Amino acid sequence: PRTIFSGIQPTGVPHLGNYLGALRQWVKLQDEASSDTTLIYSLVDLHAITIRQDPKQLRQWKKDSLAMLLAIGLDPQRSIIFHQSDVPAHAELMWILSCQASTGYLGRMTQWKDKTANEKDGSEKSKLGLFSYPVLQAADVLVHGATHVPVGHDQAQHLEFARQLANGFNEAYGKNVLMPPETLISPAKRIMSLTEPDKKMSKSHANPKSRILLTDSDDVIRSKIKSAVTDSYEGISYEPERRPGVSNLIDIFYHSGESVETESQVALAEHMAGLSLRALKEEVAMAVVEVIRPIRERYESFVRDEATLDAIAEEGARKAVASAAVTMTDVKRAVGLV
Ligand code: TYM
Repeated sequence: PRTIFSGIQPTGVPHLGNYLGALRQWVKLQDEASSDTTLIYSLVDLHAITIRQDPKQLRQWKKDSLAMLLAIGLDPQRSIIFHQSDVPAHAELMWILSCQASTGYLGRMTQWKDKTANEKDGSEKSKLGLFSYPVLQAADVLVHGATHVPVGHDQAQHLEFARQLANGFNEAYGKNVLMPPETLISPAKRIMSLTEPDKKMSKSHANPKSRILLTDSDDVIRSKIKSAVTDSYEGISYEPERRPGVSNLIDIFYHSGESVETESQVALAEHMAGLSLRALKEEVAMAVVEVIRPIRERYESFVRDEATLDAIAEEGARKAVASAAVTMTDVKRAVGLV
């Protein structure tokens, strides 16, 4: 039996990087799953508050994000979909794992270093919750006994940490209580910003033109891609180091199209070698519009149906509480808490 677990922060409308890099895999895994596979997907609101959020805004984003998970094709009959804070075992296991987690290891995490890079030692600004963020993420996957975790490339380090924590816990208590999960990195593992193609596409970048949202209209998608930063080299080629902007557009095209399994990005670039950059952008925009349109249309109807969203969240929480309880009993017994 397999247990798939993954999470996304409800901090705004998911973007094309979230979709191609993770969410699309979630749906694919769901649609291809055999009956002995459990699928669990969480809106990680406790992770969201590691950065200060406006309460009203967060409440709204939680609803919107749930509607989006339905819009992309997750089926609550098949997948457990829940808000992380509805299942207290996540925070509880986090505490127990914190007593095992190395601060040195946490301090070397890329995300921590990036987010605190501009702060001096002992800064009042860096918070404990941001520092221990990966411990909560480890608790998320371990509390449900996940065997596989589909994510984009930026989460690989956090999951390596989760495996080490699980192994360390099992060694310390001499029992196989926690299962180190396997990371499933999606083929579109790193979609870059449209305006700064050396950075990943992200919800938090200041420039809204840097990302395409799953709610963007056809026109907005076209205009964002049209103004994407490229370069002034001749022709079209796939060279991520030398031509990050153009290569990102080819990546987006490649992963948005139907051809995904048959051709490489290099082969795709060779096919399009004769196009102008403007024509390339038009092709990419057309493909992205086709990917997003059905999602956006489904989203618009789900997001209006608050009663259904609440019912799905409640049902998901109930199932996730039951799933987490199994591990918590073993963990508490192993540690001597019961
Ligand atoms: P989050 O909310 O930042 O992103 C959700 C998913 O989208 C992927 N992703 C990308 N993939 C490709 N290109 C991009 N530009 C891009 N941006 C984001 C992420 O890799 C992720 O898979 N810490 C996690 C949430 C989390 C989680 C977990 C994930 C909490 N607990 C347990 C897996 C298992 C996060 O902040 O993802």
